[in-house]
Amino acid sequence: MNESRYRIVQRPRRLRRTPAVRDLVAETRLHPADLIEPMFVVEGLDAPREIASMPGVRQHTKASLQRAVHEAADAGVGAVMLFGTPAVRDPQGSQAWNPDGVLANAVRWAVEAEPGMPVIADVCLDEFTDHGHCGVLTPDGRVDNDATLPLYAKMSVVLAEAGATMLGPSGMMDGQIGVIREALDAAGHTDTILMAYSAKYASGFFGPFREAVDSQLTGDRRAYQQDPANAVEGLREIELDLAEGADIVMVKPALPYLDVLNRATRVSNVPVAAYVVSGEYAMIEFAARAGALDRQRCIMEALTGVKRAGASMIINYWATEVARWLAG
Ligand code: PBG
Repeated sequence: MNESRYRIVQRPRRLRRTPAVRDLVAETRLHPADLIEPMFVVEGLDAPREIASMPGVRQHTKASLQRAVHEAADAGVGAVMLFGTPAVRDPQGSQAWNPDGVLANAVRWAVEAEPGMPVIADVCLDEFTDHGHCGVLTPDGRVDNDATLPLYAKMSVVLAEAGATMLGPSGMMDGQIGVIREALDAAGHTDTILMAYSAKYASGFFGPFREAVDSQLTGDRRAYQQDPANAVEGLREIELDLAEGADIVMVKPALPYLDVLNRATRVSNVPVAAYVVSGEYAMIEFAARAGALDRQRCIMEALTGVKRAGASMIINYWATEVARWLAG
């Protein structure tokens, strides 16, 4: 018994005294099934390759992808998300809708490795165009919104046909969700889920992703991705995607936009996903390697924060490792 000369009735520290009590009162819990692991597949690669700006993440071959998908499934990870880098690029990004192209094949390989695992395919042209933009260009070099939409539609049908459970349109073209939904439905893919990258910001934190997909981009995407200064605009994007038929909406990046994420959960009647992007990954990895912070603790804290802000699912490059930590 502690003697005290103060009459303090309210003592919040009572609920923090032991690990067991802290567990009992925890408001937020991560679960492996909420985690989605992005994976990169590169056409023509003969061995997996480390991505220097994302230590611990690799570009995959067929064999290493299938192993990684296996491991993710074994750990209980909820889904994998695939990005493909083609061997040849052109102004249209035509490898994106090649039924035998790198991304369609990657989807098939992932489904073959783990038939029960939800497989999400990215729908965007930036990995496939020789200029690195997310859509085709007008003669004066701007990204042509409406000319890009039918290409997304073609790409989506090919990926659905390859067996993707879910598509993630990430190009930030106006009207993309509606056009893709209509094309999928017309082709009989009424069950293919659309995870809309709704509030996607023109972010410096996508930096390492450029290396991961060998991006050809010069300049930036500020004319189509959102201004980091704006939250209400993000909510408008979410409402539009919901009206166009999005099954899941997303806020991306995650940590600098937790306010947007939290507000999104209040207006959305579908699950809200958050994407902890390549640069957020790299910040923790490089800081940990420099001895500046405790890696596992900071990964768990970052992901718990995203969950606490309201995310139903979290796309992140640690998913399999974190799922193992959670299990044991
Ligand atoms: C576009 C796309 C990007 C990311 C996911 N999809 C790059 C961009 O918009 O510039 C970034 C993901 C990350 O940084 O982890 N297809």
